[in-house]
Amino acid sequence: MATIEFLLNGTPRQGDVPPDTSILTLLRDHLGLTGTKEGCASGDCGACTVAVRNPSDAKACFQSVNACITPAHQLNSRHLVTVEGLAQDNQLHPAQQAMVECHGSQCGFCTPGIVMSLFTLHTTQQRRPIPLTPERLEAVLGGNLCRCTGYRPIRDAALSMQSLPWQTPQWFDASLPATSVSNPDQVDENASLFAQPSTLDELTRIRRRYPDARLVAGATDLWLEITQRLVELNQLIDVTRIDELRRIEEASFQGQSGWWVGAGVTYTHLEPLLEAHFPAFAHLLHRLGSQQIRNTGTIGGNIANASPIGDTPPVLQALDAWVELTNADGSRQIPLSTFFIDYKKTALAADEVVSRVFLPKLADTATLKVWKLSKRREDDISAVLGAFCYRLEAGVMFDVRIAFGGMAATPKRALAIEKALEGQSVSKTSFQAAQQALDDEFTPMSDVRGSQLYRQQAARNLLERLYLTLCAPNQEVMLHAYAH
Ligand code: FES
Ligand code: FES
Repeated sequence: MATIEFLLNGTPRQGDVPPDTSILTLLRDHLGLTGTKEGCASGDCGACTVAVRNPSDAKACFQSVNACITPAHQLNSRHLVTVEGLAQDNQLHPAQQAMVECHGSQCGFCTPGIVMSLFTLHTTQQRRPIPLTPERLEAVLGGNLCRCTGYRPIRDAALSMQSLPWQTPQWFDASLPATSVSNPDQVDENASLFAQPSTLDELTRIRRRYPDARLVAGATDLWLEITQRLVELNQLIDVTRIDELRRIEEASFQGQSGWWVGAGVTYTHLEPLLEAHFPAFAHLLHRLGSQQIRNTGTIGGNIANASPIGDTPPVLQALDAWVELTNADGSRQIPLSTFFIDYKKTALAADEVVSRVFLPKLADTATLKVWKLSKRREDDISAVLGAFCYRLEAGVMFDVRIAFGGMAATPKRALAIEKALEGQSVSKTSFQAAQQALDDEFTPMSDVRGSQLYRQQAARNLLERLYLTLCAPNQEVMLHAYAH
């Protein structure tokens, strides 16, 4: 059991929960608050959306998270707001009132989740108003599925709620004395463990002592082992409270300038850097997961998880990123391309953790393209993802780095394809050679997301798309937004 202390709708709460309890289980089963719904239990539908804020950070806004896959123990010292907390003295919150006035609900099952996403938008807008473009509304609501109302009235509610009267209750800014978890010195092999180190040094020492414990950050994939495969995870080390893992620092490494990005940096935190320097990578974030997922998922988690269909590793490989691995004795850095060894096997030793990633600056003359194929646009796992980095000089390709996800047991550099294109002019012939190299180099697997044949053909088509893009650079074929 791990004791957690947090604010729930402005009121301090305390309780003991097993390490693998989700916020949703805590709310519905332990506290009897059933306004938050369970739909998919896998972070896909948004029915369970709640809002969380770190009250000790004055600048922090409430962020939407999926309660079904967020560990309850991460609430320690945080403020959790649920749909039960919004109405004040019989006055609905503007997010609720606008949904009523715009007829944004029919069966109502998705409604608490949608209201909570709108609540986080409303509170953010009150602090830093920014234009509510269609893209921004998509970003806020893309993780909330509604099967019966349709999104037009919900978007209308989002647009009209800002003009409704609302007096922010004082408890919105309530704070809580910071508490820290006592990290155990010794537990026996099978006993339940919950540790929440606050420094990298503490983390590596605990890691060495408990090499079988699971590390948890955003939990966006790990928690599916509990909700989908019904696995009991009784030894967890939470890495979300370590400042060193949440930094982005401009630096020089191996003679290249770039940024060290802490493994615990969330996609939401990373987004401004990518928007400024890697727009194609930034665009991928909006295809990688919903706002709720982007608020909690971390770049280090996406790497260490070593999924063959993780979205960021192929892009990082194409950018020639390096990864830093740290244990209690020190750190070592290796190219990310050598980190993945086989299906879910990495170069990490049992006592090491992924601590940082070095993201080299893209040369002024270099281009990065990232194309992801998945069934759902905003919040889905890749069937195939291709990342292409190159320089084009007088119609000839140089410094070609290409990587694919979904095409092998690991995210993988396409070395034979790179060789086929390096120093070649952009022509039908060179790209046919690249497609042949792809057939020789990759034998993808078949699964529910795509057959081997589909993946092979899709990857060939991405090469064709690159060829067509290079032939007509001003006619980019990219679906940036739905028609509105
Ligand atoms: Fe579907 Fe949580 S229940 S995202
Ligand atoms: Fe029925 Fe949205 S109102 S699912």
